[in-house]
Amino acid sequence: MRTHLPSRKVIAVLTAALLATGMAACGNSDTGDKGDDGTITLGFSQVGAESGWRTANTTSIKEAATGAGIDLKFDDAQQKQENQIKAIRNFIQQKVDVIAFSPVVESGWDTVLKEAKDAKIPVILTDRSVDSADKSLYKTFLGSDFVKEGRLAGEWLVEQKKAAPGPVNIVELQGTTGSAPANDRKKGFAEAIAANPNLKIIASQSGDFTRAGGKQVMEQFLKANPKIDVLFAHNDDMGLGALEAITAAGKVPGKDITIITVDAVKDGMQALADGKFNFIAECSPLLGPQLMDLVKKVHNGEEVPARIETQETTFTQEQAKEALPNRKY
Ligand code: AHR
Repeated sequence: MRTHLPSRKVIAVLTAALLATGMAACGNSDTGDKGDDGTITLGFSQVGAESGWRTANTTSIKEAATGAGIDLKFDDAQQKQENQIKAIRNFIQQKVDVIAFSPVVESGWDTVLKEAKDAKIPVILTDRSVDSADKSLYKTFLGSDFVKEGRLAGEWLVEQKKAAPGPVNIVELQGTTGSAPANDRKKGFAEAIAANPNLKIIASQSGDFTRAGGKQVMEQFLKANPKIDVLFAHNDDMGLGALEAITAAGKVPGKDITIITVDAVKDGMQALADGKFNFIAECSPLLGPQLMDLVKKVHNGEEVPARIETQETTFTQEQAKEALPNRKY
């Protein structure tokens, strides 16, 4: 008797159909569908990977999501607002339970935030805020007080230079143009140094929060300005890039030029302990655990404070030496 065996093509089609049925029954985590086990799905749009701070922040968020049993859909926007808007729209389409993001710049979010609100998906701002007048577009903002960080940096300088007999020339490496930390740190620093008219910002330009940007802009500053007494860099990475430019110009960082930065990531703290930086205002990237807590609360419809400020400190060279062995990031 002759048996009719199915052809290879038929087997392939049947296998694909079986697999598709199985996947639909289990729920597909790539589409963001919530399984029937009650797992919360969080769509998170990260700024990028521009600095040591950002890398530590991403690790904190990923680890905390795993620890909290939250299904994290992570998107890296590569420092572009249009990528973040696209990611948020994808999250809305995927019907995630909560959206969180760290906005690359402050302006231009109202439309997409309104789309999330209309889709009844709560939004949490983390690290950086937006300038939307309608505060109902997001549930809460978890992050640092950037104005305070700039002010602390400026106050330290005012104290250091209180006996300066003449002008103190300051150059400033700003963070990403239009971002909350760049706007706010600039503001806080300028307000603080206004206490001493000898302290003058002679040049200020964006280094985009990157080492390469810090190095390149510092090279230009050094070429254009024969007398630079102080560098205020809006983050450690730009300060670290600037170190290379300063050394290449034959100057001694931390001595010929006083260097103040923000963040206190390990490499920055090492430079401070080594005497190459002079002062750091801390900005903590370890926002993951608090964020996951908030995600659960807003998902459950619980009230959360409109603003949650991160607790931070400052470091001198001596304090950096003490803190370094236990520094987590
Ligand atoms: O928004 C926080 C800032 O962004 C950090 O200070 C900086 O390093 C990062 O890129």
